[in-house]
Amino acid sequence: ARVVILISGRGSNMKALVHAASQMTNVNISAVISHSANSEGLAWARAQGIQTEQLVYDAAGGQTRVQYDQALAECIDRYQPDLVLLAGFMRILSDEFVRHYTGRLVNIHPSLLPLFPGLHTHQQALNAGVRVHGCSVHFVIPALDQGPIIAQAVVPVMADDTVQSLDQRVLVMEHKLYPQVMRWLAQKAVFLDEQGKVGFTEKL
Ligand code: GRF
Repeated sequence: ARVVILISGRGSNMKALVHAASQMTNVNISAVISHSANSEGLAWARAQGIQTEQLVYDAAGGQTRVQYDQALAECIDRYQPDLVLLAGFMRILSDEFVRHYTGRLVNIHPSLLPLFPGLHTHQQALNAGVRVHGCSVHFVIPALDQGPIIAQAVVPVMADDTVQSLDQRVLVMEHKLYPQVMRWLAQKAVFLDEQGKVGFTEKL
C-alpha cells in the first residue's frame, strides 16, 4: 500500500509509522506532508530519505480553506496513495476533501472516542475524573472526530496525573496502535464498508 502521512509538528506518530513500515513488505511511505512552516517531524522524515512536502496555509494571501484543501489534495494525489494517515495534523479538513478520500483517510485521536473530541483531550479527561483514558484510530468523515472507530487502546488514569504524564502514557500506546492499524489497512483486513461501518475480514 502506498501511504501518505500528514503532520503538523513533532511527528512522533509519523516516526512510529515510518519505523514500522520499514519492517513491512506491503507498506511504502510515499510522502510526509506538513502544513506547518516549522515542523521538526518533516526535517526528520527528509533526513530518512522520504519525500517531504511543506504546504503552508496562506491566510495573509487570502487563501480560503477550500482553496488550501484543493492544493493539499493535488499535492497528495501526485503520490497516488492507497491510504492517507493524519498523524497530529491540526487542521480541520473541508467536507469536499474528506469525501475525496472516503475509506482511505484515517486519523489518530488522543482519547477514547466518542469521549473528548476536539482539543485538550488530556485536560478534558482529568477534568471529567475518568479512571481510564486512551487513544482511538478512526476513519475520517466530515463530522470532526466522529468517524467509525477502527481500534482503541486504553491506559489507566493515576491520582497524581498531569496533562504531561497522561500525554506520555497515551503516546506510548498511540505509537503501538497506529502502526498496527496501518498494517491491517494495508492488508485490507479492515475497511470502510458501503454502510459507512468498519468491516473486518478473517485475515485479521
Ligand atoms: C498526538 O497525541 C495525536 O493523537 C494528536 O496529536 C498528537 C500529535 O503528536 N492528534 P505527534 O505529532 O504525532 O508527536
